[in-house]
Amino acid sequence: METHSAPSALFLLLAVSSFLLTASSPQYSQLQSYIIRMRLPRNATLVSAQALDDWYRSLLPPTAANSTEPRILYTYTAAMTGFAARLTEDELRSVERKPGFLASFRDRQVPLLTTYTPRLLGLLPGLGLWTHSNMGKGIVIGVLDTGLVDHASFAEQGMDPPPARWRGSCAPGLQGAISCNNKLIGAQSFVKNESPVDTIGHGTHTASTAAGNFVAGANVLGNANGTASGIAPRAHLAIYKVCGRFDCTISSITAGMEAAIKDGVDVMSLSLGGGPIAFYDDVIAIGAFSAVERGIFVSCAGGNSGPMATSLSNEAPWVLTVAASTIDRNIRATVRLGNGVELDGESAYQPNSYPSDSLPMAIPDGSLDGPNCWQGLVEAEVKGKMVICSIESGSSILIGDNIKSLGGLAMLMVNGELDGYTTMAEAPNLPMSYLNYINGSSVAHYVNATQTPVASIIFRGTVFKRSVEARHLGTGVNILAAWAIQVGPNPPQTTGNTQTTFFTMISGTSMYVPHLSGIAAPIKAAHPDWSSTAVKSAIMTTSDITYKDRNPIKNEQYNNASFLGMGADNVNPI
Ligand SMILES: *[C@@H]1O[C@H](CO)[C@@H](O)[C@H](O)[C@H]1NC(C)=O
Ligand SMILES: *[C@@H]1O[C@H](CO)[C@@H](O)[C@H](O)[C@H]1NC(C)=O
Ligand SMILES: *[C@@H]1O[C@H](CO)[C@@H](O)[C@H](O)[C@H]1NC(C)=O
Ligand SMILES: *[C@@H]1O[C@H](CO)[C@@H](O)[C@H](O)[C@H]1NC(C)=O
Ligand SMILES: *[C@@H]1O[C@H](CO)[C@@H](O)[C@H](O)[C@H]1NC(C)=O
Ligand SMILES: *[C@@H]1O[C@H](CO)[C@@H](O)[C@H](O)[C@H]1NC(C)=O
Repeated sequence: METHSAPSALFLLLAVSSFLLTASSPQYSQLQSYIIRMRLPRNATLVSAQALDDWYRSLLPPTAANSTEPRILYTYTAAMTGFAARLTEDELRSVERKPGFLASFRDRQVPLLTTYTPRLLGLLPGLGLWTHSNMGKGIVIGVLDTGLVDHASFAEQGMDPPPARWRGSCAPGLQGAISCNNKLIGAQSFVKNESPVDTIGHGTHTASTAAGNFVAGANVLGNANGTASGIAPRAHLAIYKVCGRFDCTISSITAGMEAAIKDGVDVMSLSLGGGPIAFYDDVIAIGAFSAVERGIFVSCAGGNSGPMATSLSNEAPWVLTVAASTIDRNIRATVRLGNGVELDGESAYQPNSYPSDSLPMAIPDGSLDGPNCWQGLVEAEVKGKMVICSIESGSSILIGDNIKSLGGLAMLMVNGELDGYTTMAEAPNLPMSYLNYINGSSVAHYVNATQTPVASIIFRGTVFKRSVEARHLGTGVNILAAWAIQVGPNPPQTTGNTQTTFFTMISGTSMYVPHLSGIAAPIKAAHPDWSSTAVKSAIMTTSDITYKDRNPIKNEQYNNASFLGMGADNVNPI
């Protein structure tokens, strides 16, 4: 049998989690979480969930069965036949010898991998798919993510009651934290000791992208202002929190899938996933297969590790897995170098009081060839300066905070060669511009070749530039959607449990997933007799292979994209 190492792309979440695991007490360090997959006994008198639970428990050796620490974490009957348990190696061997044992999977952490997009897709009230299908009315989208916060995007306004077949619910005790209503019809947590409340923002963002209600005046720090809505604004939402800040395991994801299948969701949205893995070892793919068998449409993130080969996640053919593409909106932050050259970059934080004076520039470490702005950044290097950093240094938000605390006045984030022309509009706590690789290299050459290099940043607001790109659906870069907190400098103090209206822009294949979950909803509403595979086929076969102006679609290096490069996610819902 093959062995699988953890995916090489280590996200912060993954790194922090493994640290916590190694730091746990030695007594429990021999215990590992495993997912055990069983085959139902031939005689199958085990019809009730209780009978299955009892059977699973009977498989544990006495040392585990009698342990004071509960060993069974989750039991599964719908996503797969099996359970998750904490076992020693010896105990695992014992379970593996039981009749009906199929496979064991060591539990592992997986990384979490719009105002404007509905209009971009031609989805406007009274037009196209939104007319015929009533914007996903009667459809339930299950979002397996980091939970959600109370937000105007999840208001009940205009929503019908959930379908009669709905069996899900909201966890007790959520009053005041999350308002369940006819929009939000389910909220459960599968993360130990955590409520369904989102402490990260990711789940709030993806849920509102899939099926958020209409919110007028949505913006991030005044940018990208407009009426926000999900792709399926009349669909119901059921939230399954499967990832916390430090904990995002395949056993809890499977538990979320189990609940979503039993509750009766129509669509499952998973903006998470590790690297490539064989289908028989891919627990998410196994759970998704069970869901698809029951007619549930499953949309999953392909990961953010390209463009190298073999970097995809969630590649099982029964789920919809697509990459992220850019949209034609730019939150422009133009860098003007001392020699007069102007370079257009992006930033979601556009301070109107920022002086257009030129600042002295600094490249920590003197090179942008790798991470140059995190470890060991010192005050002398950055104080009073515009600091130029390779995006490989890490999160612009965290790096921005660090530079600001060391007295830096502004920041340029620069793509690596593989990132090419894709820029991101983030909202750090100091003036910044995010530059593509070519423009970033021009800045570096200017700094290298100039005695006293200086530059200023001119904030130009929201620009709809690349209107030729205006038909993509697999959009995942700079997507504005609901957020848990106010972003940017000087966030206002919020009081208690008031429903928030914060929005922010984030990027990644995570952001594209709920778009496709959202588009599946109106299709399912219009064609209730279609299988999830038929829905998937309908979506993929609308895919455009050129821009509106009939020019070839470009990849991140602005070269003509190959068919494999562009995939089938440039969906045209009209
Ligand atoms: C069903 O099979 C299991 C083991 O496969 C056995 O322990 C059990 O006694 C059987 N039950 C019946 C009713 O035959
Ligand atoms: C486990 O508990 C059961 C019932 O409480 C008892 O019969 C059995 O001897 C115990 N086994 C061990 C290994 O402690
Ligand atoms: C957003 O636009 C609306 C009108 O379209 C306007 O009333 C509102 O003030 C704008 N908000 C921001 C923050 O620009
Ligand atoms: C600047 O020049 C030095 C020496 O020629 C070189 O090593 C370095 O990579 C250059 N830095 C940038 C950012 O181009
Ligand atoms: C900046 O990037 C654009 C592409 O987005 C390119 O056309 C332009 O030539 C670049 N400018 C410089 C000075 O590198
Ligand atoms: C890109 O596609 C266009 C239109 O088909 C073609 O004219 C052009 O030569 C292609 N460019 C390259 C580098 O292949």
